[in-house]
Amino acid sequence: MITKMKGTYDVTDDIGYLQEIEKKMLTVSKLFRYEEIRTPHFEATELFHRGVGETTDIINKETYTFEDRGNRQNTLRPEGTAGVVRAYIENKLYANPVTPQKYFYYGSMFRYERPQKGRFREFRQFGAEAFGSASPEIDAEVIAYAVTFLKAIKLKDVTVHLNSLGGKASKTAYHQALKAHLKDDITALCGDCQTRYKDNPLRILDCKVDADHPLVKGAPKPLDYLVEEDRTHFERVQAALKAMQIPFVVDDNLVRGLDYYTHTVFEIKVPEALLGRQNAICGGGRYNNLVETLGGPQTPATGFAFGIERIIVAMKAAGITPEASNLHVYFIALGDQAKLATLALMQRFRIGGLTANTDYLDKNIKGQFKQSDHQKARFVIVIGDAEIAKREIEIKDQRTGDTVNTSLEGAYETVVKLLTKGDACEDCDYQKGAR
Ligand code: HAM
Repeated sequence: MITKMKGTYDVTDDIGYLQEIEKKMLTVSKLFRYEEIRTPHFEATELFHRGVGETTDIINKETYTFEDRGNRQNTLRPEGTAGVVRAYIENKLYANPVTPQKYFYYGSMFRYERPQKGRFREFRQFGAEAFGSASPEIDAEVIAYAVTFLKAIKLKDVTVHLNSLGGKASKTAYHQALKAHLKDDITALCGDCQTRYKDNPLRILDCKVDADHPLVKGAPKPLDYLVEEDRTHFERVQAALKAMQIPFVVDDNLVRGLDYYTHTVFEIKVPEALLGRQNAICGGGRYNNLVETLGGPQTPATGFAFGIERIIVAMKAAGITPEASNLHVYFIALGDQAKLATLALMQRFRIGGLTANTDYLDKNIKGQFKQSDHQKARFVIVIGDAEIAKREIEIKDQRTGDTVNTSLEGAYETVVKLLTKGDACEDCDYQKGAR
């Protein structure tokens, strides 16, 4: 038997979660006025080397890279930002008169990581990027967008962790301080960290091996090296979040694992009890130099990405179930004529926006009733020779056991009436049907 590749998974029982997440993503993105953008699953390898950073684990250890038949180096996207920035430059989206230009995306990303709970080799992200504004208020907006999405999917127990790395001057000052701190004892850290010390000391702070080493824990913090202007930016982000009543904690250990960040960085975490150690469901921040690094005009930008699988694990652990999709009517057809009448009726129901299903296996009446139970039908309609002769049917409400008689022709209208009896219909959107 051929089995799935390590670190991948099939979506079967969890499809309801995925659809709920996708639905809420579309709704909330509209509210915040972010447009969808779709970019390729593979890009030139160089894009990620220049974009994400040569010294990051993602690029050093985790890319799926291959040469194609035309001798080009391709890489399956490990994250969405670099590709969106490439598309932004290549399609001259910066010329769009609507500013700032705001996009969201959804799809698979690929990282060759050690699979574990909440960590896959192919995983999905819902991400967003806003281009063209250096304002701290838009940093706060992307966080508000992420938090609103979590509210929409009813994931409550979340904490926004916030930090700032500052701009060029702050980062340079911090790098110097960090190097000075590590200098004498660097050989106590792992081999990778010794290389990182030379190439990019900030990466030592997110080393998976040395995370708890006293030298790393006692390292200086980026916040202590922010120049005045960058400190003001960070304070304004916090003031904006407070104005929107979005709770957050300042986490001066947060540095993020990608090289492009400047100023604000954040992660949204759920308690380890829900998700284990991989408890960051969202990561993001500002990246003011990436567009220029990749050949575009100087353009400040900010964004985030959610890990969808981690959200699903957290939703399940928190006891959240996706909205069930309802079957309005299960038709039980007995005989050839009844089958044709049923097909005609089902088509009427479906065009009218109501869900309908029937048996295609020639099951007996008992077997078909069983199916209506399995499929959790709200109503059952039995059609046999007698019903065809009288052109009259009985609609049985499976919730209450009540029955209503109506003509074949009036079946659809009667079911609509039953669904909307009293209050508005709580489980159908037939008004928006395909009519
Ligand atoms: P990231 O922190 O590398 O950031 O990934 C964002 C989220 O993707 C993580 O918080 C996590 O939930 C999920 N994730 C990452 N790796 C895996 C994995 N192997 N399996 C399952 N889930 C995973 C970025 O990707 C940035 N592009 C975010 C961003 C957008 N920053 C600015 N704009």
